Amino acid sequence: MSHKDLREFIGKLEAAGELHRIKTQVDWDLELSAIMRKVFEKDGPACLFENVKGSDFPVFSGGFYKAKKYGIAVGAPPDIRSILKKMLRATENPIPPVMVSNGPCKENIDLGDKINLEKFPVPKWFHLDGGRYIGTLGTIITKDPDTGIRNMGVYRQQIAGKNRLGMLATQQCGINLQKHRIRKIPMPIVTAIGVPPSVLAAAIVRAPYGEDELGIAGGIMGEPIPLVKCETVDLEVPANSEIVIEGEIPPDADLWVEEGPFGEFTGYCSSVHSEIKPVVNVTAVTYRNNPIFQGCSPGIPPNEETTFREIGSTVGAWRSILKAAVPGVKEVYATEMGCAEFVIVVSMDQQYYMGNAREVIEGVFATVGKTTKWVIVVDDDIDIFDRGQVEWALSVRVQPHRDIIITDDRHSGNPLDPSIHPSLRRHPLLARTSRIGIDATTKNKDFDFPPLVKSTEEMERLVEKRWREYGFI
Ligand SMILES: Cc1cc2nc3c(=O)[nH]c(=O)nc-3n(C[C@H](O)[C@H](O)[C@H](O)COP(=O)(O)O)c2cc1C
Repeated sequence: MSHKDLREFIGKLEAAGELHRIKTQVDWDLELSAIMRKVFEKDGPACLFENVKGSDFPVFSGGFYKAKKYGIAVGAPPDIRSILKKMLRATENPIPPVMVSNGPCKENIDLGDKINLEKFPVPKWFHLDGGRYIGTLGTIITKDPDTGIRNMGVYRQQIAGKNRLGMLATQQCGINLQKHRIRKIPMPIVTAIGVPPSVLAAAIVRAPYGEDELGIAGGIMGEPIPLVKCETVDLEVPANSEIVIEGEIPPDADLWVEEGPFGEFTGYCSSVHSEIKPVVNVTAVTYRNNPIFQGCSPGIPPNEETTFREIGSTVGAWRSILKAAVPGVKEVYATEMGCAEFVIVVSMDQQYYMGNAREVIEGVFATVGKTTKWVIVVDDDIDIFDRGQVEWALSVRVQPHRDIIITDDRHSGNPLDPSIHPSLRRHPLLARTSRIGIDATTKNKDFDFPPLVKSTEEMERLVEKRWREYGFI
């Protein structure tokens, strides 16, 4: 079972020896983020900063970094396969949320002049960031104005004054914004910070448009997520959130604000200058007593953000490939060091016909996150979660002239991909990339590979049986 709120999760981390409380004063201005980077380098625990300069409230960070902590968050054993299995099951067995009349996030309600985003201990994460980013792990909920179906995702949000945010409204939040702009109406939007861990994990799953990720959160949780109505917008939000920011994005881009740059998940800065981005005019802030602010320090992988993306993108990619129904697929992995987006590795337990592996490559190009650049297909004797094994397959199972497909650069790219020429990624919808697919399997190559150098099964059994006799423990 996952946890009903962030506080219960923090308690579980502490009981497992995976939480470090920092009692000395830490500056929100770059220091907190630099500490977290060092913690990631050392594969350290989650951190609760209890004394952040200029604020009465604590900051929680690093709680989802690597499989051990992620497993605690979603109630799965601490290895990536078990976590993925649990998340995939949740996507196939969603449990819709339930409305409740009240919740802890309503303990304090700030409206009108009382709204002040700057009272929260929001870090400046990177020295070239355009400001303080309140939304790094904020779960953002919007609705499709045609169907009323909710969408949940995480998109960066920068404080642009006491009651305004600038944000990157991309992916499915971007589709909802487009739909509101076409109708020339403001888009209601809510950001919930410090949500139950199942909700945050579900928000980062790349689910198909039109699927309410709160159902996936319920699937992870094993019971419906309780929601309360917002105070000032027609949206619902997890009742157990720590902090809730309600607002609207005006349809007219002339009213938007400067946002960025931001040190991004690619390990590079999003841009050199700020750009005009959607503004959220904040209409209410509600929060628990002594709210815990949650955020994460992005940057060069691996870090907490890339663990989130690794799990969320892999679940999305795996489902898409299964739906594409190309036979032979066994496992799928959006690699963490590939920023969980640019490199997808797929293993096949069978190849049923000539071109089956190539069909997998083309299936990934067609169905998975559109910005994928590398697809590597291997046999299932390779553990796709082991970089070394994948590298070995690339070394000895690939002839570049025969097994590699490179496309032209007319495929949609990620505007944050720093390898794309800046002139080709100024507008998110215009960013374009080329792609590479590598068939690193041994099948359908018109010849048989020589035997692998491995002990016979008989000898492996014998050695296993006599292992202690050799003096090993
Ligand atoms: C810390 C963090 C920050 C993220 N920031 C953004 C962002 O600013 N823009 C974006 O498009 N995706 C961002 N993502 C990834 C999306 O949250 C993720 O792809 C999610 O599935 C998008 O939801 P959607 O498919 O409903 O649009 C972020 C993920 C994490 C873990």
